[in-house]
Amino acid sequence: SVPVLTIDGPSGAGKGTVSRAAAKLLQWHYLDSGSIYRSLAIAVLQAGVALEDLAAITQIAKAMRLEFDCGEVLTVRLNGVDITSQLATETTGNAASIVAAYPEVRAVLLQKQKDFRQLPGLVADGRDMGSVVFPDAQFKVYLTASAEERANRRYKQLIEKGIDANLLQITREIEERDRRDSERATAPLMVPDGAVIIDSSSLSIRQVIDAVISLVR
Ligand code: CDP
Repeated sequence: SVPVLTIDGPSGAGKGTVSRAAAKLLQWHYLDSGSIYRSLAIAVLQAGVALEDLAAITQIAKAMRLEFDCGEVLTVRLNGVDITSQLATETTGNAASIVAAYPEVRAVLLQKQKDFRQLPGLVADGRDMGSVVFPDAQFKVYLTASAEERANRRYKQLIEKGIDANLLQITREIEERDRRDSERATAPLMVPDGAVIIDSSSLSIRQVIDAVISLVR
């Protein structure tokens, strides 16, 4: 079957950078599953729907039309409208982690994610890529780093994007998101069966990418 490399791990472990680089080097497709949950969060906030309103959120998830354009930066259109600039904000990320906790929502978004598995191969980045969406993936990585290091990286990333940020607040949000992602009943964040664990705390991006690529080659 079509080869898949899954890269799971907590917020800010460097999955995005590493997955994108790996996809480029392997010339495989790239699935940023977090951006699907982020897009749903944007749709929900735009509709003025409460984050507790499961029925309305499920409806929005079923109806939303997403188009991804994986150029130098990932461009996402929601029902034809470019939402790229709202994708990376902490408001979106926090709302994404709330809607992602509903099993009904995850069920609706499952097939949309599986559809990315196309020749010559796929690099899939998320929380449950190796455990739920692509359990039969040929290559699995669990990428992690200390909460402190992840908060530092997230902070720098936001500042570089010109988004106002506060390190202490980000550290708290990362810890809160870790807790929510690992304690939820459906598809909690975990090391998938057969995954190679890479702790990137004291590794350069280059070293992590090399380690990941050497698994596949
Ligand atoms: O890394 P970060 O949490 O900032 O962002 P992300 O990877 O874009 O994902 C946003 C949120 O979506 C995460 O906090 C998770 O709660 C959720 N998510 C998920 O539940 N399952 C996935 N496969 C990907 C993301």
